[in-house]
Amino acid sequence: MPTAPGPEILAAFEAAKGFMPVAEGLALYEAAVEAGRLGLPLLEVGTYCGRSTILLADAARRSGVTAVTVDHHRGSEEQQPGWDYHDPSTVDPEVGLMDTLPAFRRTLHRAGLEDHVVAIVGRSPQVAAFWRAPLGLVFVDGGHTDEHAGADYEGWAPHVAEGGLLVIHDVFPDPADEFTGQAPYRVWLRALASGAFEEVSATDSLRVLRRTAAGG
Ligand SMILES: C[S@@+](CC[C@H](N)C(=O)[O-])C[C@H]1O[C@@H](n2cnc3c(N)ncnc32)[C@H](O)[C@@H]1O
Repeated sequence: MPTAPGPEILAAFEAAKGFMPVAEGLALYEAAVEAGRLGLPLLEVGTYCGRSTILLADAARRSGVTAVTVDHHRGSEEQQPGWDYHDPSTVDPEVGLMDTLPAFRRTLHRAGLEDHVVAIVGRSPQVAAFWRAPLGLVFVDGGHTDEHAGADYEGWAPHVAEGGLLVIHDVFPDPADEFTGQAPYRVWLRALASGAFEEVSATDSLRVLRRTAAGG
């Protein structure tokens, strides 16, 4: 029987601005609850407005651990003005750049989950460079270029503890299905080829891998 969030958490997830469909959210939640049993923090790369963070935060609350979420809050390439995923309401009119931090904070406050999340505002590789703590789960949902997705894998996968989970969003093996490039797919291939991770589940474009050996 899969572990599902309560109706109020699911409603908060569905009401939040973001891109993750419900089926993938439920798979992420199940992975986060399982990983929480390791008693280690759960880390997300790519906060945006907090839609997926709600699920990690609630899973963290259930396990008595903390969810950490990293984002520079200036948006990915495909979210910039002129691109398909741009939302003009995320632009700070004073500086003329995207700033999703205020929307994220409102999302988390409304869901009553602020106490369970540490939000880090910064570039993922820069944060990963000084990160030292083992993690129960790493959820990669940041930039979708090879440069960014590859750096997220290299920066964060080494911190996934033995038995912990690496979750990758937007894995599209068929180029006909992808909207934002196949870099996450290549990260998934790389993780499997490393011999350090094995696949646990696949729900649409969300892949859950478990660390079974060192390296990767
Ligand atoms: C696809 S969105 C995340 C969606 C979110 N997980 C959700 O479910 O709604 C990607 C986010 O990654 C952030 N991002 C992209 N590249 C980044 C980088 N190198 N460092 C930190 N954040 C980055 C963007 O600012 C954007 O908010």
